[in-house]
Amino acid sequence: MSLPFADLARVDAHDKVRGAIAFAADDARPDLAYGVFAIATIGKGRLTSLDTAAAEEAEGVRLVLTHASLGAIRSAGFIMGGGYGFQSYQPLLSPEIAYRGEPIALVVADSPEAATHAATLVRATYETVPFAVELDAPGIEVIDQAQTPIAHFIPPIAAGDADAAYARAPVQIDAHFASAPQHQNPIELIACVAEWRDGRLVVHEGTQNAEAVRHGLASALGLDAGRIDVISPFVGGGFGQKNSMQGHTVLAAEAARRLGCPVKIVVPRAQLYHLASFRPANRHHVRLGADRSGRMLAAIHEAQAQTSRHDLFPGEYATTSSRLYGIADFRGKDELVRTDAQTPGYMRAPFEHIACFAFESCVDELAYKLDMDPVALRLANDTTVDAVTGRPLSSRHVGRCLERGAQMFGWGRRSMAPQSMRAEDGGLIGWGVAIGTYAGLRAPAVARLTLAADGRVTVAVGVHEMGQGVRTALAAALARKLAVAPENIVAVIGDTRAAPQHLTAGSWGTATAIPVVEAAAEALLAQLMALSSGGGSNREPARILREAGLPELTVEVAGKAPGQPDAIYDRLKAGLPSMAGPVYPDFVTYSYIAHFVEVRVEATTRRIRVPRVVSVADCGRVISPRTAASQVRGGVVWGIGAALREASEVDPRYGGFLNADLAEYALPVNADIGAIDVAFIDVPDTCFNSAGVKGLGEVSMVGVAPAIANAIHHATGKRLRDLPIRIEDLL
Ligand code: MOS
Repeated sequence: MSLPFADLARVDAHDKVRGAIAFAADDARPDLAYGVFAIATIGKGRLTSLDTAAAEEAEGVRLVLTHASLGAIRSAGFIMGGGYGFQSYQPLLSPEIAYRGEPIALVVADSPEAATHAATLVRATYETVPFAVELDAPGIEVIDQAQTPIAHFIPPIAAGDADAAYARAPVQIDAHFASAPQHQNPIELIACVAEWRDGRLVVHEGTQNAEAVRHGLASALGLDAGRIDVISPFVGGGFGQKNSMQGHTVLAAEAARRLGCPVKIVVPRAQLYHLASFRPANRHHVRLGADRSGRMLAAIHEAQAQTSRHDLFPGEYATTSSRLYGIADFRGKDELVRTDAQTPGYMRAPFEHIACFAFESCVDELAYKLDMDPVALRLANDTTVDAVTGRPLSSRHVGRCLERGAQMFGWGRRSMAPQSMRAEDGGLIGWGVAIGTYAGLRAPAVARLTLAADGRVTVAVGVHEMGQGVRTALAAALARKLAVAPENIVAVIGDTRAAPQHLTAGSWGTATAIPVVEAAAEALLAQLMALSSGGGSNREPARILREAGLPELTVEVAGKAPGQPDAIYDRLKAGLPSMAGPVYPDFVTYSYIAHFVEVRVEATTRRIRVPRVVSVADCGRVISPRTAASQVRGGVVWGIGAALREASEVDPRYGGFLNADLAEYALPVNADIGAIDVAFIDVPDTCFNSAGVKGLGEVSMVGVAPAIANAIHHATGKRLRDLPIRIEDLL
């Protein structure tokens, strides 16, 4: 099968722009009731009184749930602690207030307006206690991750003797970095509709993890999971924010049970800054040792990141920086700092973005110390072996990414000295480069493929469409294997009734779903071949079916990552994380990217613009060229946001996050984005899986921020190591 992959337009594009796709918040049935939260306005403490009488008497109000009236609901547990939630803390279970912004009451009414108004009538008094929201707050608790029960999950990186090798290195770079916390801001707000139909609970919610929501609800409500269906056919952006059960869903389910009607909750933008996870504040100390020829000999990456009081969100920063080059002596350390906030979590390229920002900034500094071209320095430190484990890499084409990107960008015309390139208007021009990497992960999946006599192909598989284009990738792969038109392919995904739904995250969606779906297509073709008994193999599949007098034909195929035991399918069906990688029994898999960035710094205002970016990715085989390129552009925009705009502001006097809306949380807008040219190496990694696919979504963002910071250094001579970088840093 060597047919090429068609450059399909996004298969759901027309339905999306016509508004024909129903997201959970679009449900407008007349019998819906609407839930709105009243939220805590103190940094931490306890409710001393909660008066809901005025809210209950307000027009249209049907129900008010508080800790006093909620009854026997339990926490669904923390996803990284064996549970299903983004945190173990379930609001409304007690009068305790863990952090500013947590819900204290759910008001359910006939209309969103009535519920919103009534929520303002809830009166609370509090007892407050001291709290901490910053990494360096007085008396803060710092935890060495290696000494915690989660340590086994991510073994600390310790290859060779990094401290001794660094001490001996003739050239040393030693630098500190930091990033503000950040929040995802997907277009689709957090929303669900919960309803009970004949004793079954049916939840429509935009989530990356329908199975975890299903089992989390079962656990929280004390209900058999066999009586719960969760559907999430389309998600309007997830970025990790929707990767597990959130606190509102069980409350919608309970309200729907009590009222006997469907209940919808749409969490307003300002509230979701506290009702879902976020990228924690973090800081880094990186030391990099090299010889005078530029060979990197040793590195030490020590990271500190924010977690909550109630959960330990494990950091994996050195896991990434240790995989950029083949450095034999590498030591990593992760520390967690307890703060009074909701539990932080996985926000796009959660560790990789900032780990590469720190490390690739050091690599640029090394290039300047050695007076060596930054691309040449990186090429000189390429590798084919994973230095941490000693195992071979299943594929690594980052050198080709650098060479192709340099050529596309015109890197050869760059002069090395800072402040040496000027624009016609007198502004400074800076050109910067950085690479990024992201683990090659894969989860188990079950695919059921049905061919109908009318030629329609229905595929049910575990994966969620969050806008990344997996429906288009499924159509491209099946159209190629079965020689059917993409419009005849129907994907039933994000639906716990159709197939077990593993969490779709960590850029493993395509590498998880496509190999299994392709194998199912091959099994279907083999059965058709048997049916057609000598009639030739190149006939239309549906015709073979019709000639055999069959209305339809169904095959089911399961697949998992190399080295996973068969029992992994039980975890998959239980809604628990079941992915594997990047270290497999015989190899190690990572995706790679190289970013080249031009910045312009205006002479008087020091305004920083990014007129052009060139990004070349090694993500194995590209299944859907158009949505893949779109993923990379999105990742680059995320990188520009992280480098130059985004910060969730905290104030030690108040707690919570203060700029909780799109007006005050600065994001790049269309006018901030220039040309983004994308290319792929497109060499299949068939060692990793039969489809040759590695991940793409997250690696796209990794390395953008250091390429920008390195370009700013080239333009101005200033090394800026705290994100986001702002005009005032250049004055
Ligand atoms: Mo992604 S941050 O793993 O949803």
